[in-house]
Amino acid sequence: MAQTWTPNSWRQKPIQQVPDYPDLAALEAVETRLAKYPPLVFAGEARRLKTALANVAEGRGFLLQGGDCAESFAEHGADTIRDFFRAFLQMAVVLTFGAQQPVVKVGRIAGQFAKPRSSGVEKQGDVTLPSYRGDIINGIEFTEEARVPNPERQVMAYRQSAATLNLLRAFAMGGYANLENVHQWMLGFVKDSPQAERYRKLADRISETMDFMKAIGITSENHPSLRETDFFTSHEALLLGYEQALTRVDSTSGDWYATSGHMIWIGDRTRQPDHAHVEYCRGIKNPLGLKCGPSLTADGLLELIDLLNPANEAGRLTLICRFGHDKVAEHLPRLIRAVEREGKKVVWSCDPMHGNTITLNNYKTRPFERILSEVESFFQIHRAEGTHPGGIHIEMTGNDVTECTGGARALSGDDLADRYHTHCDPRLNADQALELAFLLAERMKGGRDEKKMVVNG
Ligand code: PEP
Ligand code: CO
Repeated sequence: MAQTWTPNSWRQKPIQQVPDYPDLAALEAVETRLAKYPPLVFAGEARRLKTALANVAEGRGFLLQGGDCAESFAEHGADTIRDFFRAFLQMAVVLTFGAQQPVVKVGRIAGQFAKPRSSGVEKQGDVTLPSYRGDIINGIEFTEEARVPNPERQVMAYRQSAATLNLLRAFAMGGYANLENVHQWMLGFVKDSPQAERYRKLADRISETMDFMKAIGITSENHPSLRETDFFTSHEALLLGYEQALTRVDSTSGDWYATSGHMIWIGDRTRQPDHAHVEYCRGIKNPLGLKCGPSLTADGLLELIDLLNPANEAGRLTLICRFGHDKVAEHLPRLIRAVEREGKKVVWSCDPMHGNTITLNNYKTRPFERILSEVESFFQIHRAEGTHPGGIHIEMTGNDVTECTGGARALSGDDLADRYHTHCDPRLNADQALELAFLLAERMKGGRDEKKMVVNG
């Protein structure tokens, strides 16, 4: 029988990726303070997201999850948030049209600060320092002082998350997300893209649909769903002291919820079934993500599913697969078959970023064509297995950065130095993110036509 869970029962378990705080009394004082601060999100919102994800698990929706690899204190401005939201909404409209299904919108934002690292130290020349672990823990500057974990950073991350969330809520509900706006931005993107011809057909069909809706009297004035949108937040639940401080009982249901974000996920490096991160996550009722990399066995996955979703509730668990473009065909089918055999209800999502990182000219980068290739394989494999390719999970920004190579503007290795701004992993820029959405929408439409032919033929 599962042992009793409490918000701090994870402290009795082995744990990976913990920062080495020099002053434990100061850490405890910060956690005590945070525990008295207001929640960032409400349980009712997390439940609404779970319901939306349950539809995705049952094949009636698509999950778009994306944002920064690591949010930073330095880049916390209204323009950055607005530009991200704008690019993200455009992707969502294009994918809604491609999938002909509702798109569930979940940002990697307003809390995505803590980073797992493959090495505890970073070496530059003869100097070795502790690795940067995200702004919520230490500073990115390569100095001894900056790299010391500082608990006060948790309070800064909390406040930044609150301010970001406040603006996002205003954008989502205050008219900025109006479908007509998003459509106009999308047309601007298509006009300026070197691949304009390729995207024009889909864009024209979206325009026609909008004109038709207007003609029959469906407008944003009389239909709130055309001017408002549901937008949710998510991040990796890595820094468990912070998560615990924001774990609260929902007065309606009496259940525990993480109130640091609507959805939280477990990283590929911290998914050991008997360790702290799985222990924490199993006890809260939010929708959960689980990163699935090449080292995850089918039995290992089933064990984790039983721990994290013992009631087999649809919408509770999203499997975020991140194998790499050249490994997805080897690993995804065996996991799908095990899950299907046991009748487990999950959302299958594809993270085409984390298995496709390479180093070029001393920059960590990701070739656009490999990202696209992993998502395409993901779709094909699900089609072949008769399961629903439920979503994508990407690292992106609304800014015009040069971090991933390729795309319609054919960014090369030599371009990386121009605007390489990420604090951690390379992100798709706004153009690349939208291109990905257009290319996927084309494929989704192709897949539907194929299915119709099979049904009719
Ligand atoms: C991430 O999503 O930024 C990340 C570190 O992913 P993973 O745990 O899949 O490596
Ligand atoms: Co990342």
